[in-house]
Amino acid sequence: VACVGTGVIGAGWVAHFLARGLDVAAWDPAPDFAARLHRLVDAAWPALDRLGLAPGASIDRLTVCPTLVEAVTDADFVQESAPEVLGLKLELLAELGGATSPDVVVASSTSGFAMTEMQRACATPGRLVVGHPFNPPYLIPLVEVVGGEQTLPWAVEWAAQFYTATGKRVLSMDHEVPGFVANRLQEAVWREALHMVAAGDATVEQIDLAMTEGPGPRWAFMGPCLTFHLAGGEGGMAHMLDHFGPSLAAPWTRLSAPELTPALRQQMVAGTAAEAGDRTFAELIVERDRNLTAVLRALAAVRRGALDADGAGGSESTEGGAGT
Ligand SMILES: NC(=O)c1ccc[n+]([C@@H]2O[C@H](COP(=O)([O-])OP(=O)(O)OC[C@H]3O[C@@H](n4cnc5c(N)ncnc54)[C@H](O)[C@@H]3O)[C@@H](O)[C@H]2O)c1
Repeated sequence: VACVGTGVIGAGWVAHFLARGLDVAAWDPAPDFAARLHRLVDAAWPALDRLGLAPGASIDRLTVCPTLVEAVTDADFVQESAPEVLGLKLELLAELGGATSPDVVVASSTSGFAMTEMQRACATPGRLVVGHPFNPPYLIPLVEVVGGEQTLPWAVEWAAQFYTATGKRVLSMDHEVPGFVANRLQEAVWREALHMVAAGDATVEQIDLAMTEGPGPRWAFMGPCLTFHLAGGEGGMAHMLDHFGPSLAAPWTRLSAPELTPALRQQMVAGTAAEAGDRTFAELIVERDRNLTAVLRALAAVRRGALDADGAGGSESTEGGAGT
């Protein structure tokens, strides 16, 4: 696998593919990228180790390449994670098309650009797909896969099967939707959070508490639809809709984007800094990864039926690794 662009997301992909026992070649134009990439992969490795590495997985199977062409020439799959700038993605994907063999799928990590837009400059657009991960890509199972108008169906199917083989949970879309699925859901919550801070309805800390102690734990294993099915009692979703349907029209949420004023920006920055307290960025990443691996392991154990009757915890087996 070749990973092109090794910032937060690209380095996360590198860690994921290495942990699944693959050889990874990486390139990034930043002069200090090799040291930074090794730091990020080293930081990710303990969590991946806890989840279970694939046989033969090793950080030593990472090759840092001095040029893009060297990174992708022998690759069977390319994951592009360059900055979210449309012109840059257009040029880069065109270059990647020219530098890879015609049967190689190239996936973009883009958070919101349509592949139809990004593939315009590429001479071989049929094998370009979006493979949108969630941060950190080495722990969060979801990847959203969708092609553009010029993408050939085999490429979408190939990418979906490949990601699945590396332990990812794939949401494969048959047409492009702005922002894909999970980002739209996340964005709705994010807009409302910003509105609530701007209006003085809730503090940054209260918003985070409301989510982690409220919907968060449920959403780790049951999405909002099945969750509300249970909220309807034995009448299920039908009763829930009939009962609470009218309140849908109540003006609870604003949803249109709030104006990002300097004051709101400052409130968000100060609020999150206060929440972080004296924990450094690196410490927060360790904490996040520790909690995420615990959640993933618990869910994997439940799916295997391996939790004790009192839910005290599964065995140490980590079958399936990060993707379970
Ligand atoms: N950060 C997230 O939570 C997140 C989640 C999902 C998807 N994404 C998407 O992943 C992609 C990368 O985002 P990020 O957060 O890792 O950004 P980032 O700024 O951390 O990393 C971008 C990297 O790309 C490199 N780069 C610059 N020009 C390049 C070029 N021409 N070719 C290759 N690499 C180049 C930079 O040196 C940097 O290392 C974006 O498309 C973003 O939308 C981000």
